[in-house]
Amino acid sequence: GSQESLSCDASGVCDGRSRSFTSIPSGLTAAMKSLDLSFNKITYIGHGDLRACANLQVLILKSSRINTIEGDAFYSLGSLEHLDLSDNHLSSLSSSWFGPLSSLKYLNLMGNPYQTLGVTSLFPNLTNLQTLRIGNVETFSEIRRIDFAGLTSLNELEIKALSLRNYQSQSLKSIRDIHHLTLHLSESAFLLEIFADILSSVRYLELRDTNLARFQFSPLPVDEVSSPMKKLAFRGSVLTDESFNELLKLLRYILELSEVEFDDCTLNGLGDFNPSESDVVSELGKVETVTIRRLHIPQFYLFYDLSTVYSLLEKVKRITVENSKVFLVPCSFSQHLKSLEFLDLSENLMVEEYLKNSACKGAWPSLQTLVLSQNHLRSMQKTGEILLTLKNLTSLDISRNTFHPMPDSCQWPEKMRFLNLSSTGIRVVKTCIPQTLEVLDVSNNNLDSFSLFLPRLQELYISRNKLKTLPDASLFPVLLVMKIRENAVSTFSKDQLGSFPKLETLEAGDNHFVCSCELLSFTMETPALAQILVDWPDSYLCDSPPRLHGHRLQDARPSVLECHQAAA
Ligand SMILES: *[C@@H]1O[C@H](CO)[C@@H](O)[C@H](O)[C@H]1NC(C)=O
Ligand SMILES: *[C@@H]1O[C@H](CO)[C@@H](O)[C@H](O)[C@H]1NC(C)=O
Ligand SMILES: *[C@@H]1O[C@H](CO)[C@@H](O)[C@H](O)[C@H]1NC(C)=O
Repeated sequence: GSQESLSCDASGVCDGRSRSFTSIPSGLTAAMKSLDLSFNKITYIGHGDLRACANLQVLILKSSRINTIEGDAFYSLGSLEHLDLSDNHLSSLSSSWFGPLSSLKYLNLMGNPYQTLGVTSLFPNLTNLQTLRIGNVETFSEIRRIDFAGLTSLNELEIKALSLRNYQSQSLKSIRDIHHLTLHLSESAFLLEIFADILSSVRYLELRDTNLARFQFSPLPVDEVSSPMKKLAFRGSVLTDESFNELLKLLRYILELSEVEFDDCTLNGLGDFNPSESDVVSELGKVETVTIRRLHIPQFYLFYDLSTVYSLLEKVKRITVENSKVFLVPCSFSQHLKSLEFLDLSENLMVEEYLKNSACKGAWPSLQTLVLSQNHLRSMQKTGEILLTLKNLTSLDISRNTFHPMPDSCQWPEKMRFLNLSSTGIRVVKTCIPQTLEVLDVSNNNLDSFSLFLPRLQELYISRNKLKTLPDASLFPVLLVMKIRENAVSTFSKDQLGSFPKLETLEAGDNHFVCSCELLSFTMETPALAQILVDWPDSYLCDSPPRLHGHRLQDARPSVLECHQAAA
């Protein structure tokens, strides 16, 4: 019957996705190691259906409309390590399914319409479990103390509880060690209680889709906590100025926290934070990295200057604020960021005029890396001049800005060694580019030549331009790496490559190679080429002559006649 449409490879990996199976297909064997039956219409798994595949390690049954599984359906699967039952129609879960699965490391039960996790504890026999995903959007409403019995340590625990109505206190406390906990909660109602229970076990807490507008701190009923929590992330969450202040109060319980992240969050406020309120922390403790991506601020135009958080961020070393309509970092704020070494403001609205205010005298005194990719900078000369205040700057990324043609001379911070000018529309490189560079990226531009002497350059990225030949080796006496893919280079020779004294890596695939006698003889006689050309041989195809078009250089043979003529 349906067995023909299951395709298995020699190692026992079987693919039965989207085959319209209405039951587990027959003909399963002990040779099968992995079975993927997702996106079918299976509805029912009977007690003998999986009996034959006793060596199965991976079983994927997601999105297959399963509503019933017999109690002993998995009894022969003692070797199973990965079980995915997500997005089915299971309205109740039975502990008898999981009893025999003592090898299980990964279990996904998410997206089924159950309200609780079974009448009795589901997981006491899963002593090897590392990853567990549970819950759903609509019906999962209660987390109980029996739910996690038997689990002591997990790498990843994800709980989707967007309709949670009851959290029995201590429920999550029994798991002593959780590397990464992801909680989808729509309201902050149980947040404090859960937070207290996971404080001594979770290293990375990720909160998703939570409206924190009404979050109110109150002291936790814990004494002597030493929390291992290092990272805290909010994704798709809503905050207000007030609730931000309330959240800050949690920091006193997580003294080892080093990284905070906000992705796709909405701030319904004006940036009028008030961390100096009575009992609030005055600094972020050990937090070194703050990352904000796609922050939405509806009342953006009324936004405050953030002066209330200046002192909070004095010790922070890495800040990313990406795609969040930043057009200015006020001078006094920049001056307070005394420890900042890395600042990424990609995909914002910075122009030279405001950048000048942000990088004012005394701004970011420790800054080493500045990323201004995809902003609205236009003048390379002005940008360099503005950044002269950053004495410690070694790395500047101004890629994806559309620059006017560069002048012959520019000024840059003295210590600059890395410059990224990719996708900036440049047609010509001039001596505006600083001689101090060790790494230069000019990929994806309109360059048809490159003739600039860069005595310290070690890495040149010049892919996706219009060069017809390799640049002259005498320009870069210490070059180690060159990436020049997707240009119009037609050939390279022994002399040319030999003239780069230190070149270790060349990526030159997807060019327009003319497979002449000389080029093909050279590649044939130089097997060591494969060690330098990292994308050899698949990206090196002959463009011409017509008889060799599309052949790999490695396989193409020169014509005897042509080589004879060349020799003569
Ligand atoms: C757990 O495993 C043991 C042996 O490994 C077995 O005897 C017991 O029945 C299992 N528990 C359940 C609930 O199946
Ligand atoms: C560079 O940063 C260090 C701290 O990392 C600081 O002591 C020094 O003053 C900075 N240099 C300049 C020129 O600002
Ligand atoms: C330069 O910037 C581009 C685009 O922003 C990025 O993809 C690339 O990795 C950067 N180059 C280097 C060498 O980091």
